[in-house]
Amino acid sequence: MRKEYYITTPIYYPSNKLHIGNTYTTVAVDAMARYKKLRGYDVKFLTGMDEHGQKIENIAKETGISPKAYVDRIADDTRKLWEIMNADYDIFIRTTDDYHVKAVQKIFRTLYEKGDIYKSYYEGWYCTPDETFFTERQVTASADGGPPKCPDCGRPVEKIKEEAYFFKLSKYQDALIALIEGNPEFLMPQSRRNEMVNNFLKPGLEDLCVSRTSFKWGVPVDFDEGHVVYVWIDALSNYITALGYGSDNDADYRRYWPADLHVVGKEIVRFHTIIWPAILMALGEPLPKRVFGHGWLIVDGVKMSKSLGNVIDPKVLVARYGVDAIRYFLLREIVFGQDGNFTNEALIGRINSDLANDLGNLLSRTVGMIEKYFGARLPALQEPTAFDKEISDLAASTVDKVEECMDNMLFSDALAAIWTFVRRSNKYADETQPWVLVKQEGKRPQLANVLYTLAESLRITAVLISPFMPNTPGLIRRQLSITDDGLAAWETARRFGLLPREIEIEKGEIIFPRIDLKAELEKLRTVNTAEPEVSIEDFSKISMKVGKVVASEKVAGSDKLLKSQIKIGDEVRQVVSGIAQYYSPEEFVGKRVVVVTNLKPVKLRGVMSYGMILAAGGDEGELRLVTTDGHIAEGTVVR
Ligand code: ME8
Ligand code: MG
Repeated sequence: MRKEYYITTPIYYPSNKLHIGNTYTTVAVDAMARYKKLRGYDVKFLTGMDEHGQKIENIAKETGISPKAYVDRIADDTRKLWEIMNADYDIFIRTTDDYHVKAVQKIFRTLYEKGDIYKSYYEGWYCTPDETFFTERQVTASADGGPPKCPDCGRPVEKIKEEAYFFKLSKYQDALIALIEGNPEFLMPQSRRNEMVNNFLKPGLEDLCVSRTSFKWGVPVDFDEGHVVYVWIDALSNYITALGYGSDNDADYRRYWPADLHVVGKEIVRFHTIIWPAILMALGEPLPKRVFGHGWLIVDGVKMSKSLGNVIDPKVLVARYGVDAIRYFLLREIVFGQDGNFTNEALIGRINSDLANDLGNLLSRTVGMIEKYFGARLPALQEPTAFDKEISDLAASTVDKVEECMDNMLFSDALAAIWTFVRRSNKYADETQPWVLVKQEGKRPQLANVLYTLAESLRITAVLISPFMPNTPGLIRRQLSITDDGLAAWETARRFGLLPREIEIEKGEIIFPRIDLKAELEKLRTVNTAEPEVSIEDFSKISMKVGKVVASEKVAGSDKLLKSQIKIGDEVRQVVSGIAQYYSPEEFVGKRVVVVTNLKPVKLRGVMSYGMILAAGGDEGELRLVTTDGHIAEGTVVR
């Protein structure tokens, strides 16, 4: 009988493209899911998107497309990102999915019928970027006399008063304290436990506002028109609706719930260990076994986040270094649970030392020597050396160590243990000195044994790293010509000597090339924006001036083009622009614009154009003119 294991990531907001912070969580969950699969569990790995809420509605409006079209685009992007990152999830839920919407409506109605949700008035503060309600005493007074600030993110909150539904969170206060204090397995790491109890539970819980009427983009409350379900109730429910809870087919729910592990960033631990269990208690459903709140990736001292815009694009890094290097770095560099700095220096440092020098080198020197000393075919003859037992003992204890670390979510320690073994294997090569043995009479069996031992270390390493680095094991096995998939099974890592005695190798590419740190850092500064550099001389060849639109009309036969007369200094120039869908000729006249004045003239729809007006956007969303901040005379040079 296989044991079930249900693990989840947060469902991410599509408020922008996902970044290395979200990637961090997903990669950690993926590593755990892969590990559990290797250990024989029947794993369900859930991820997805949290697509409703005021923030998304606002962003879509700014982008000039419908909320659904907007979230579709980001969901597609996200799926591609997880493919690139090798995240092998089982379910990708979107809160706009029909089955989820229906199940949330049912959950809301059930709680209302049970009396745990009631109708009243909400008056208080709301942080839209965080989609969080705050009471008067929770918000931080503003120093500049403006609206108060969100206690979580520091941005201004807005005052709202509306008819609303409330969830009786206060009723569950004692049960929640008992849950968190009495069950140390429930919330990890330990430090988060004290924070929840002291900062939120002990001061007393207030009932939670769980509906909004001021916007539409959400799950409608199906028995009260105009109300939409609070986005966090909608979002948290995903963990059970994804399994069919609240639908006709809840077989997976009965099979996989309760979740073994919800992995989340520390800023949303509160939602997962207070609100979520309270909802489940109200529904009479079992509680998740564990919530793990990991730390933040920090860039230049602040949390990387979509709303702050200081993000690193994982796709750029994967394109340069390969997915396994990025996965390795994220899981090895930062202790899971603590905050950690993301720097390019640290990334390249890890790639060079751990991946190129340690693992890459162990593989290339091993296959290199088998090729050189035995013509690519290692014979079965063997004569053990004094150093062998240390290697096989360390292999076995490394497996124990990795298992123990994985039970405690210590990814970094698990990888550190594996690398201790890799380094020890390299040291074994130095101690046994195959390059000396090869020159000595009668030492062929001993030489064969040393190379066999190294190959076997590599086989075992390939098994142990496979949850973290799914591609590399295949590359190692190919070079060692291991075709038996049975040798990739976890249990085989414990048994030194399973590799057939007679090995044929197939030397391949260097798996992790060394990187020139200085040159690479220089390059990274430009590839992060993925654009070719131009010199200041190139730039200065382009002449741009401020102009004022004095006349404008539609170009006959086109719904995209405006023909305008632009006053630039003493001259008036005719410019044709593809802007008619966004500005009417009437709106356009009087605008102060930036014109590229030394472009080669072109004819558009039979009309000559002597320049180009700068504007931003337009690809799929709104197009807006670039204009000057304050009054600048027409003809002034832009630089
Ligand atoms: O909070 N470092 O979505 P979100 C580490 N939709 N992890 C980070 C990170 C960083 N700098 N930035 C983001 C939401 N993350 C809600 C969740 S769940 C029912 C609803 C990761 O898009 C981390 O896991 O803001 C964090 O909790 C999550 O992304 C927040 O993603
Ligand atoms: Mg967030």
